[in-house]
Amino acid sequence: MKQRWSGWALAAGALTISAAAFAAPPTPEMISFACAGCHGTNGGSAGLTMPSLAAQSKAAIVEAMKKFKSGERPSTVMGRLAKGYSDADFEAMGAFFSRQKIHFTNQTVDKAKAAKGADLQEANCSRCHLDDGKDGKDDTPVMASQWLEYLKMQAELYDSGKRKMPKDMAEKWNRLSKEDREALLHFYAGVSK
Ligand code: HEC
Ligand code: HEC
Repeated sequence: MKQRWSGWALAAGALTISAAAFAAPPTPEMISFACAGCHGTNGGSAGLTMPSLAAQSKAAIVEAMKKFKSGERPSTVMGRLAKGYSDADFEAMGAFFSRQKIHFTNQTVDKAKAAKGADLQEANCSRCHLDDGKDGKDDTPVMASQWLEYLKMQAELYDSGKRKMPKDMAEKWNRLSKEDREALLHFYAGVSK
């Protein structure tokens, strides 16, 4: 019986990695293996539909992973992926990426929209999305320099009700027009220093 168990554990590679991470902080190799293809070893997004994780608070990453795992937050890939890990793994991953330097994408955005968005951010969002979205209060994710395409996908999920937003955020968000929301996304995407 013992023999069969260890053979099974070896075959289940993902589970073996997860168990190793439970005992110790994730090694850079583990992060490279599991996250880097999409989020980079340095937490910088590798594609337009993926967020950068660098400099996100540990709480923001842990909360997001738990919501992906439970299905509360809709996703294309993260839900399936998160199911392979424990809460302790999420803590270790969060600690790893929170130590990385913020990743700037230098993407082109609509300047007029971004300027309008800057004022709207100051008035409506800056209480939680601190410092032009470069920092986040508690479990608030980093917004600055995220790809516009990713931000638009998340905005659509909020607008359709598939992704729930914090009550205090909804109070601000729901009062804004579609144009105002888009201006805000251009502002955040365009923050490049
Ligand atoms: C195949 C690509 C892929 C891999 C591998 C991947 N991610 Fe993701 N990640 C995404 C995408 C795409 C999203 C946006 C949500 C969605 O649609 O799944 C995302 C979103 C996230 C978010 C939400 C961030 C925010 O700003 O809201 C976190 C946290 C995250 N991933 C952590 C991880 C961690 C930790 C790993 C490694 C265990 C990982 N991801 C591996 C593609 C990936
Ligand atoms: C009371 C605090 C608060 C306020 C005010 C707030 N937010 Fe948020 N925001 C959050 C938190 C917390 C999350 C993460 C939510 C989650 O994972 O469910 C978030 C997530 C987001 C996301 C998704 C980002 C990602 O990577 O997943 C967008 C887009 C966003 N906020 C836009 C805005 C805009 C635009 C405003 C102003 C109109 C705003 N927020 C006001 C707290 C706030």
